[in-house]
Amino acid sequence: MISAQLQTASYLFASILFILSLGGLSSQESAKKGVLYGIIGMIIAVISTVLGEGVQGQIYIVIAISIASVIGILLARKVEMTSMPQLVAILHSFVGLAAVLVGFGSYLDPHTHTLVGAAHTIHLVEIFLGVFIGAITFTGSIIAWGKLEGKIRSKPLLYPGRHAVNIGLVIASIVLCVLFTMAVGTGGMMYLIIMSLIASFIGVMLVMAIGGADMPVVVSMLNSYSGWAAAAAGFMLGNDLLIVTGALVGSSGAILSIIMCDAMNRSFFSVIFGGFGAAPTGPAMEITGEVKSTDHEGVADLLKQAKSVVIVPGYGMAVAKAQFPVHEMVNKLKAEGKTVRFGIHPVAGRLPGHMNVLLAEANVSYDIVLEMDEINDDLSETDLVLVIGANDIVNPGAQNDPNSPIYGMPVIEVWNAKDVIVMKRSMATGYAGVQNPLFFKENTTMLYGDAKDSVSKINGFL
Ligand code: TAP
Repeated sequence: MISAQLQTASYLFASILFILSLGGLSSQESAKKGVLYGIIGMIIAVISTVLGEGVQGQIYIVIAISIASVIGILLARKVEMTSMPQLVAILHSFVGLAAVLVGFGSYLDPHTHTLVGAAHTIHLVEIFLGVFIGAITFTGSIIAWGKLEGKIRSKPLLYPGRHAVNIGLVIASIVLCVLFTMAVGTGGMMYLIIMSLIASFIGVMLVMAIGGADMPVVVSMLNSYSGWAAAAAGFMLGNDLLIVTGALVGSSGAILSIIMCDAMNRSFFSVIFGGFGAAPTGPAMEITGEVKSTDHEGVADLLKQAKSVVIVPGYGMAVAKAQFPVHEMVNKLKAEGKTVRFGIHPVAGRLPGHMNVLLAEANVSYDIVLEMDEINDDLSETDLVLVIGANDIVNPGAQNDPNSPIYGMPVIEVWNAKDVIVMKRSMATGYAGVQNPLFFKENTTMLYGDAKDSVSKINGFL
């Protein structure tokens, strides 16, 4: 057992470590240190909570944590990098469910009903809000998991009057909250249950209404919701550290969502409320031109002639795990004195920073990895662009087809380079399900096949 003072000091120390952790994660060089701070902070947080005053049955807590840790380690080791977003989504759902359970537990706790006056009302509002946010996070994250896993179709489900229905449900929840705070003893249980069902429905409908190229924002928004759910649980349990941690996750998730919306030129509110913006109604622009393809030797020849090369990786590079032969290719080209750089789109892949993680895994040096805005102006002076497993992020339709579902999203303007090679397995569409006019352009040539296999074969000719 530790004293309340020691626990407060440990919580303060853990909070500082969490803030340092977030700071560390903001750049690739310091990311590992950031993760380490987070791990140490969490260990301190768990130990000082379990050993805190008034906590009983430590042995059961230790057994539960051990079982959960084993499951967590096994799952995280098994999961492929391409399935990481689904894992993140399902973990968010656990945070939401935990907040719901803490809310119900707190309401059933006899101590809650020994409070009187304003303290009692405030605590009941905390419980109600915690369960509300938790239930939305729980079901919303399950739907996000289904969409990312391909079990639920990604296309937004938009029915007429949905905004009115959602507003009506929120008003009904506010009325239930008033009735809940007025109920005597645990007499408000029915209101809490009805609100949980309503909030669960709102969670499903909110995420069902968002889809296609807006999914990145859903992932970061649910990250934010899970933070607020944790903060609400912190209020219910009177745990300051949980409030601080939840607020850190909640606000950083919200900031990330706004950054992603900016990067995609989308309005934050139109994305989170699903389809508030005008959806395209007309047919997609007709694509003209012919598709040409080449072989590995042909690409190697172009690479040998090029002085400057830009590589644009996408989700397909992650699927194929092509980052390792890509790094080998970069080394070979650099040894020939060529300028080689990467152009990274903010929503390439399926996770924020997905491509940066893959390239770091293959030890590609950070100084040649540039963001979309840094590389776009240089593309007209680039001899050759290799698009490796990317599709939506290099679609010119986003700039010139107002009927495209991704119209308005900034893209990497690879077609401005002298030559473009697109490596993918077929003419299939990307995540947003739209055809790509890039493949039909005069200066574009396709190289069909698995990206890892293709890059390895090209390396053989270099
Ligand atoms: P996508 O548009 O999804 O295109 C990836 C392409 O990779 C596919 O067209 C596919 O074509 C190809 N591919 C798949 N497996 C391959 C393999 N083994 N070898 C070679 N190619 C392969 O990816 P993107 O360009 O990176 O764009 C990302 C999309 O995902 C955006 O629409 C974005 O909004 C969405 N999204 C992003 C996130 C985040 S946070 N980044 C989260 C959710 C959704 P083939 O089948 O013909 O090979």
